[in-house]
Amino acid sequence: LAAAVATAFCGMAQAAPLVVGFSQIGSESGWRSAETKVSKLEAEKRGITLKIADAQQKQENQIKAIRSFIAQGVDAIFIAPVVATGWAPVLTEAKEAKIPVFLLDRTIEVSDPSLYTAAVASDSVHEGKVAGDWLVKEEGGKPCNVVELQGTVGASVALNRKKGFADALAAAPNIKIVRSQSGDFTRSKGKEVMESFIKAEQNGKNICAVYAHNDDMAIGAIQAIKEAGLKPGSQIKVVSIDGVPDIYKAMLNGESNASVELTPNMAGPAFDALIAMKKDGTQPPKFIQTKSTLVLPDAAQKQYDMKKDMGY
Ligand code: AHR
Repeated sequence: LAAAVATAFCGMAQAAPLVVGFSQIGSESGWRSAETKVSKLEAEKRGITLKIADAQQKQENQIKAIRSFIAQGVDAIFIAPVVATGWAPVLTEAKEAKIPVFLLDRTIEVSDPSLYTAAVASDSVHEGKVAGDWLVKEEGGKPCNVVELQGTVGASVALNRKKGFADALAAAPNIKIVRSQSGDFTRSKGKEVMESFIKAEQNGKNICAVYAHNDDMAIGAIQAIKEAGLKPGSQIKVVSIDGVPDIYKAMLNGESNASVELTPNMAGPAFDALIAMKKDGTQPPKFIQTKSTLVLPDAAQKQYDMKKDMGY
């Protein structure tokens, strides 16, 4: 008792560890699983209790999870929003409960920006632009028909990666997007949609490149290209986004040409911003931007080893 009293009087009482609820989308891609893993590690490093709810790619499950986190009175809520719209009601509930909300890796459309504290994400329009600029340079004025595998319908990253790529192609009339459809960010859907593109485009002979909004769909597409008797990486070039180990393996096999790297560590910067807020009220910037770097086959081995070391 004496010790407790002394501690209280000296103002040295240990603060309870922070509790964060994370509404994760699911495990649709290798990148997503890595993000979940890295988030747990980053929480552990800082002594934060992280509660993760897997939404199985459904917004309604995310909304339920957020309501449950509010009821539990967590210190903050992290959300990787599956789609960009439809968040205002539940975020208003979080705001009324005075729980700060951080968005991870995707952004949302709300008319009141005070409904969330900050977003940690890359500039996904820029990612699409980097992928498009690479293809424009690679083709050097030659005619090229591109097929596009879009991410989840309504996801900010799918909309933005589409826009950024189209922006890059605006300067290159030789390159045309001949087909574009969602593969929902999954390997199996990417393969299925690519198979239909190949059938529709003279058994793939009319396709010069595939642009996939993530590596998993690109890996599915590579499989479809091979099954059609064509060579991915040469007869059909492959460019995508994420930087997962399997795409680097594909690069090493000559089956993928370029990927824009997206860090799976979105939670780390969000935890740091939260800790600073709790310590002295420091308000984080609204958009905490992570880097997007183009990786080509010459750097694939190094990137592969690095990602494996990160625990991918
Ligand atoms: O929001 C990030 C995207 O979501 C990743 O690029 C993709 O792999 C994931 O499913």
